[in-house]
Amino acid sequence: MTFSRAIKIAPSILSADFANFGAECEAIEAQGCDWVHVDVMDGHFVPNITFGPSTCAAIRKHIKGVMDVHLMIAPVDPYIEAFASAGADVITAHLEAGPHIHRTLQAIRASGAKAGLALNPGTGIESVAHLLDMVDLICVMTVNPGFGGQKFIHSQVDKVRSLRAMIGDRPIHIEIDGGVTVETAPLVAAAGADVLVAGSAVFKGGSVGNPAPYGENIRAIRAVAEAAHG
Ligand code: DX5
Ligand code: ZN
Repeated sequence: MTFSRAIKIAPSILSADFANFGAECEAIEAQGCDWVHVDVMDGHFVPNITFGPSTCAAIRKHIKGVMDVHLMIAPVDPYIEAFASAGADVITAHLEAGPHIHRTLQAIRASGAKAGLALNPGTGIESVAHLLDMVDLICVMTVNPGFGGQKFIHSQVDKVRSLRAMIGDRPIHIEIDGGVTVETAPLVAAAGADVLVAGSAVFKGGSVGNPAPYGENIRAIRAVAEAAHG
C-alpha cells in the first residue's frame, strides 16, 4: 500500500448480500471502488454481531485491492493475529475498546498490517496526539457504530478539520465511517478526509445480478468528494 491523500471510496459490505460476499466484493471492485471495508462486530462492544476472521479469510480471495477491517470488538488484542492472517491490509481498533490502545496499535503493526484507530462520535481527539507515530489511519465515526443506514452526525465535521490540522504532513489517512452520501461526502472531503466508507449509499439500487448502480453510486460520491477535496 503506497500512501496517497487522493479520495478513496470504501464500500462497507455490511450493506451487501450476506449470502454472497465473494460475488459482492468482486462486483464493487469491478464497479470502481478503491478499498473494501469489512465491519466486524461482537455484540458486546457494539449491539450487533456480524462475522469474524474466517469470513475475512474467505472473502480475501475475492478482493484484489485493500481489505480494510474495522474491528468493533472488545477485547481486540487476542484477535489481531487472526485478522492479519486472514489477509487484512488495514486493521482498525477503537480507542474506546480497552485501556491499552497503544499496545493494541503496536500489536497491529507487528502483525504486518497497517494500524487504524477509530473514534466514536463522543470521543475527542486529545488522546490521538499521543498516538500519531503509531497510526496509519484514523477513522472518524460519523454515526454510533453498530448498524448501517444511520444518519450522519454533523458535529463530527469540525473534528475532522481539527484532526487534519493535527496530522500535518504525516502519512496518516483520515477515514469517515457512517452516513456518507452525496450530500455529506463533500463536507468531510473539504475538512480533510481521504477515505470515505459508504454502505447503504453504495449498495442501494443494485445487486450482484445488477451491479451497474454500484458503479453509478461510487462515481457520484467520488465526484462530489473530489470537487470538495483540498
Ligand atoms: C457502522 C459501520 C459502518 C457502516 C456504514 O457501525 O462501521 O461501516 O456499515 O454504513 P452506512 O454507510 O450505511 O452508514
Ligand atoms: Zn465500519
